[in-house]
Amino acid sequence: MKNIKALAIFALLLVFLLQSVGCSGSTEVKNASVLAGDTGSGNSSLDAQLEGNRSDILVVYFSAQGHTKSVATRIAGYLGSDTYEIVPSKPYTQSDLAYNNSDSRASKENRDQSARPEISSTTPDLGSYDYIFLGYPIWFGSAPKIISTFLENTNLAGKTIIPFCTSSSSPIGNSASSLHSKASCSTWQNGRVFTSSQQSDGVIRAWLEGLDLKRNTK
Ligand SMILES: Cc1cc2nc3c(=O)[nH]c(=O)nc-3n(C[C@H](O)[C@H](O)[C@H](O)COP(=O)(O)O)c2cc1C
Repeated sequence: MKNIKALAIFALLLVFLLQSVGCSGSTEVKNASVLAGDTGSGNSSLDAQLEGNRSDILVVYFSAQGHTKSVATRIAGYLGSDTYEIVPSKPYTQSDLAYNNSDSRASKENRDQSARPEISSTTPDLGSYDYIFLGYPIWFGSAPKIISTFLENTNLAGKTIIPFCTSSSSPIGNSASSLHSKASCSTWQNGRVFTSSQQSDGVIRAWLEGLDLKRNTK
């Protein structure tokens, strides 16, 4: 009888353990865009998203040359939310960023799957945020490796992540989806790119208006 009880307790513990590690590496992807006329998400206008300021949203970004920073600060401004800049311990110089030089720092980091550039800024307490906008420039069709540094060292469990990026002309491609496994237990919405001709206030606002940013009423 004792043995059966012990077995039952062990089985319960096993189920609990499997459930808790089960979401590690598995992420849910949601479509961020709400089609015109879709009333499923309620009022999706920017005014509704802004109602009462979105202190439940944090806009995280890395920007080496200012474009992503400009988009990120406007997103935060429209939503009334906080920002957090991922600052590299070793800033990128002009020559570090020479993408047509295969010996530049950016080129080498791109080729090195284990490259994890160090971050000097302290990650804020994420407890009060439900949504994390995650912004980065497209480098060689991907997210810079410092984004992996951030994701692997930050607990984003339970958060909804909305990626966005800037580029000269490249699409977002799989730059965001390849990051999913680095944020366990998060819900990823589809992201979007703002190419150099798409970084106007109007384009950014239109994107925000189409997002599904329901407030957590728990
Ligand atoms: C190392 C490096 C690689 C880049 N690779 C691409 C690319 O593959 N496709 C593209 O359209 N733009 C590429 N760009 C341009 C940047 O994505 C673009 O200028 C971006 O807006 C820069 O963002 P930032 O100013 O926030 O750093 C690259 C730029 C650098 C520095």
